[in-house]
Amino acid sequence: MAVLVTGGLGYIGSHTCVELMNSGNEVIVVDNLYNCKKSSYDRIKALVGKDFKFYECDIRDAEGMSAIFEKESIDSVIHFAGLKAVGESVEKPLEYFDNNVNGTLVLLDVMRKHGCKKIVFSSSATVYGMNNISPLTENMEVGGVTNPYGRTKYMIECILKDLYVSDESWSICLLRYFNPIGAHKSGTMGEDPNGIPNNLMPYITQVAIGKREHLNVFGDDYDTHDGTGVRDYIHVVDLALGHLKAVKKVEAEKGLFIYNLGTGTGYSVLDVVKAFEKASGQSVPYVIAPRRAGDIATCYSDPSKALNELDWKAERGIDEMCEDSWRWQSQNPNGYPD
Ligand code: NAD
Ligand code: UFG
Repeated sequence: MAVLVTGGLGYIGSHTCVELMNSGNEVIVVDNLYNCKKSSYDRIKALVGKDFKFYECDIRDAEGMSAIFEKESIDSVIHFAGLKAVGESVEKPLEYFDNNVNGTLVLLDVMRKHGCKKIVFSSSATVYGMNNISPLTENMEVGGVTNPYGRTKYMIECILKDLYVSDESWSICLLRYFNPIGAHKSGTMGEDPNGIPNNLMPYITQVAIGKREHLNVFGDDYDTHDGTGVRDYIHVVDLALGHLKAVKKVEAEKGLFIYNLGTGTGYSVLDVVKAFEKASGQSVPYVIAPRRAGDIATCYSDPSKALNELDWKAERGIDEMCEDSWRWQSQNPNGYPD
C-alpha cells in the first residue's frame, strides 16, 4: 500500500518523499508542476536510489484523480498541493480559493469514493491569526486570519473537522507548520522560489550569492528583543520527519488530530541574519524598511503535543538550517534545472 503525496515535487513535499522512501514507504506523487520543476523528481530519485510513480495531474481534475485511485493501492494521502504566497493571494483570491479549497474538496470526494479515508494536511501557523499570544498551543482559538491564503488554510481545517464529525471512520491529521527553512544535506534539494522571494531565508541566500543587493528588514520597532519580527524557524527535514509520524498516526488510529510542527524557539530577523553570516561566511547587507502589512511581532509554537503524542521533535538548530540553506543556494544558484 502506498502513500499518495499531492504537491510532492514542491519544497516540503520533495523532502518528505525522500524521508518516506528512505524509511521503506511506497510513495506515489501527484503534482501539476505549477510551482516546481520536473527535475525535482530526478533529484528525489537520485537521493533514494530508486524509481517511484509520478502523475502530472491537477488535484482539481476529478477524473484524473479517480483514475489514479483506481489504478493504485493507496492507503493514505499527504496533501501538500496548494498555492502559498500571501501577497499574491490578496491579488488573486479566486485562484487561491479555487486551487486550495476547491482542490481539497475534489481530492476528499475522490478519496471517499475510493474508500481512502486517511489524510495528513499541510496547515499553517497562520490559522492562529493576529491575537493569540506565543507560545501557540493547538487548543487556542483559530481564525481571524488577515489574507486569502490564510483563510484557505482555516477553511480547509473547518472542512476537515466537519468531515470527521459527519463520518468518524476518517483519520485526519492537521499539521500546523511554523517557518520551514533549510534544505537537504546533500545540497541537491531545497527551496526554489519564482521571482523575488517573499520569505526571509530565500531572500537572505539570494543576497549572499549576489542576486539581490540587500535585505529589507521589515520593521525594527516591534516589541521583541531587537525590534525585528520573531518566528519559529524549523528545518525542512525535521518537518518532513514529522509527516512520517503523522502518517503512522492516521494509519493506526481513527480520529481528528492537530499538531504544531515547530521548534518552540523564536529567532528575530537579525538573529537569523547573524546566524546565516556565521554559517556561510558571507555578509548579508541589510536596510531597515517599513513594517510589512499583516505581519505580527512574534510567532512561535509550543511543540509539546507533537512530542507527547507523535514522539516527534525538531532536532536541527538554526546554525544547521543556515548551513544547509546556503549549501543548496551556492550549489544551485539558479535553483532546479529546467
Ligand atoms: P510548494 O509550492 O513548493 O509546493 C506545492 C506543490 O504543489 C508544488 O510543487 C505545486 O506545483 C503543487 N501544486 C499546486 N497546486 C496544485 C494542484 N492544484 N494540483 C496539483 N499540484 C499542485 O510549497 P511548499 O512550501 O512545499 O508548501 C507545501 C504546503 O505546505 C502548501 O500547502 C503550503 O501552503 C503549506 N505551508 C507551507 C509553508 C511554507 O512556509 N513553505 C508554511 C505553512 C504551510
Ligand atoms: N522578513 C523581512 N524581510 C524579508 C522577508 C521577511 O524582514 O524580505 C521578515 C518578516 O517581516 C517576518 C520574518 O522575516 O518578521 C519572517 O517572514 P517570512 O515571510 O519568511 O514568513 P512569515 O512568518 O511571514 O510567513 C510564513 C509563510 C506563511 C505561513 C507562516 C506561518 O510565508 O505562509 O510562515 O507558517 F503562514
